[in-house]
Parts: sequence; structure tokens; C-alpha cells
Amino acid sequence: MLSFDDDFTTARAAPTTLPPTPETIRAQVTGGILSREPVHDLDTERQALDNGFRRVRVEDKRVINGQADVNQLVPFKYRWAWDKYLAGCANHWMPQEINMQRDIELWKNPRGLTDDERLIVKRNLGFFVTADSLAANNIVLGTYRHISAPECRQYLLRQAFEEAIHTHAYQYIVESLGLDEAEIFNAYHEVKAIRDKDEFLLPFIETLTDPNFRTGTMEADQQLLKSLIVFSCIMEGLFFYVGFVQILAMGRQNKMTGASEQYQYILRDESMHCNFGIDLVNTIKMENPQLWTPAFRDEIRTLMKKGVDLEYAYAEDTMPRGVLGLNAMMFKEYLRFIANRRCQQIGIDPLFDKADNPFPWMAEMIDLKKEKNFFETRVTEYQTGGALSWD
Ligand SMILES: [Fe+2]
Ligand SMILES: [Fe+2]
Repeated sequence: MLSFDDDFTTARAAPTTLPPTPETIRAQVTGGILSREPVHDLDTERQALDNGFRRVRVEDKRVINGQADVNQLVPFKYRWAWDKYLAGCANHWMPQEINMQRDIELWKNPRGLTDDERLIVKRNLGFFVTADSLAANNIVLGTYRHISAPECRQYLLRQAFEEAIHTHAYQYIVESLGLDEAEIFNAYHEVKAIRDKDEFLLPFIETLTDPNFRTGTMEADQQLLKSLIVFSCIMEGLFFYVGFVQILAMGRQNKMTGASEQYQYILRDESMHCNFGIDLVNTIKMENPQLWTPAFRDEIRTLMKKGVDLEYAYAEDTMPRGVLGLNAMMFKEYLRFIANRRCQQIGIDPLFDKADNPFPWMAEMIDLKKEKNFFETRVTEYQTGGALSWD
């Protein structure tokens, strides 16, 4: 298993085989489609066919284990992935666009925030400042090469850049507030509730980033599917949400409004990452129904329950007392609500009997329109996170 000290590029023993030849590199890049004799004359499709070449057909494309040329984006088959790529580009933003001046003044004012509020900010950054690097490494060094649909690869490239922007945003907040960088960036070693979440994720990253891992067998394809579910439904779809609610609740109370605005943009991106992952999982299921066995579904339910427990432990650690109208118990309900929703999205029975959303206002946060400055509106009530309303 990878440890936190491992560099993803060097964590595995160096291969004992000879360096790749130009032919093997070519086969990896082309997915094998050009591994026959090269076509020197492409004047007509006929000539190409004579040389064993065939143009890409929609029906040849598959999300995993496809044989069609991965370099040809079209003809489109997975338009949902292309549409998400376009939506991601339309939502482009950069951390420096957001003014952090009020946050800096509030943070430096000894009476600006309570100790519990400061703990929330530091724990939040402690988790996220490395979580998005883990996500980016998982995409670039793992997921990407196992996905054979170029439309999906196109979205993954966009997603990888968005993860870089998120890491940039968290670093930008740390720098703006003058926080102890070593404390924040090492929190995933040093804070148990954060370390436990990351240790849960690492074996699934290891599966996908293992250079010897290949799809194409029942066991490997189930491992891939499991890792994709853990990432979309548990990491991006559950582990981020206590932190998001906490910082956005702060913004709704006119505190740390710059950081809250950064988090709003991140939440919008992450919600699309999660939805893309769910579409990916459901398409793989549809194309490979044999993978979706009762035993596999049971395993996913167990993982989902474990994810809820870990995130709840994180909520308790970050909120030893009630703060900002929030308390850990509210998050128990919220996490159950989200877990049920994720299960339903991938076709698994709900895990919990009854779970309502105590933070209905989160829905409008995800619906952010960039041209609208959210914090021009004012919070009118502060009773609880679930009861906040707006002018
Ligand atoms: Fe992210
Ligand atoms: Fe993400």
C-alpha cells in the first residue's frame, strides 16, 4: 500500500523489464489500434482497409476495454461526458479573482472569530489542501489510462486541471491568512480524523495507479469499478461535504466571505465531478452487467457505511461544541441523507431508513451563477444551519 510519504511516481519498484521500445509506446498511445502494419497511404478508406485499418465506429467505442482509437474524439458516443466537459469549461474560475481582504482583516483581529470557528477553518484547509492533490494524482496516474472512451478522457483532463485549481485555492487561502503552512499541509499525517479518511482512500488509489494493473478480467474490472465508486460517491460525493457546509455556513453569517466564495466555486466543480463519476459508473455497469453481482453490491454498501462513519468522526473532531448554528449531530443526519442519495444514484438500496437534509440551502450553493455575487444578499436569521433564509 502507498504511504503518505510515497511519491506516486516512485512508489512502485522500478520495472525489471527493458525500457519500452517505440513500438510498445505507440501501442500504449493508440490503444493497439495502429499496432498492425502502419498505413502509409491514407488517400482513401479503401486503401486503408486493405492495410488492415478501419475507421472508428460508434459501436466499437466502450468506456472500459474498448478497442477503438483513443485519439479520435469523434464520432461521439458518450455525449453526456462531452457536455460535462463543455460545462466545466464554461464554469472556469481562478482563485485570484476572489478578494480575500475582509477574510485577512477578520482573521488577524483577535476578536474576529471564536476559537471554535478558527479550528473549523484550519481543519478544513488541513483536509482539503492535500485531498485535491490525491484526487488529481488518482485521475492522472490512475483512472485516465483505464478509460477507453475519448469523450470521458476529455472530461478527466478538464477535471484534473480543476483539481489543480482547487489545490491552488486552498493554498491561496492559507497564504492570505498567513497560516502555518507546515501545520496545514501536514494535517493529513498529524490529525487522526483526516488521516483516517485518507488511509481509507489510499488502497483504491493504489489499485488504479499500480503500473501492473490492467483491466479486462472480471476481477480487475470489478476493482476498477469499486475504485471509481469510492472516488465519486465517497470521496468527492461524501468526504467533502462536512467541510463545504461548515465554510459555506460561515459565509452565510458574513464571516470568511472570500474563503466561502472560493468554496462555492469548488463545490460547484466537485458536484459535477461526482455526477460525472456516477455517469461513468452507471455506463460501465450498463456495458458490463456481469460486474454488478450481489456480492459486489454488498461490498459497496459496506464501504459506503464506513465512509459515513469516517466523515462523522471528522465532523465530531472539527466541532467539539456547537458552532455557527451547526453541531455534529446535524451532520449525522446529513451524511445519512447524502449516502442514501449516492446509493440511489448508482442503483443500490438506501442504507438508512430515514434521513432528511438538514441543510436544504446547500442546493442553491451548488447552483451558483458566476455573474451573481452571492454575498450581495444578506442572511436574515441565524438560528440553525437548516433554518437560514435570505433577503
Ligand atoms: Fe477538487
Ligand atoms: Fe474533484
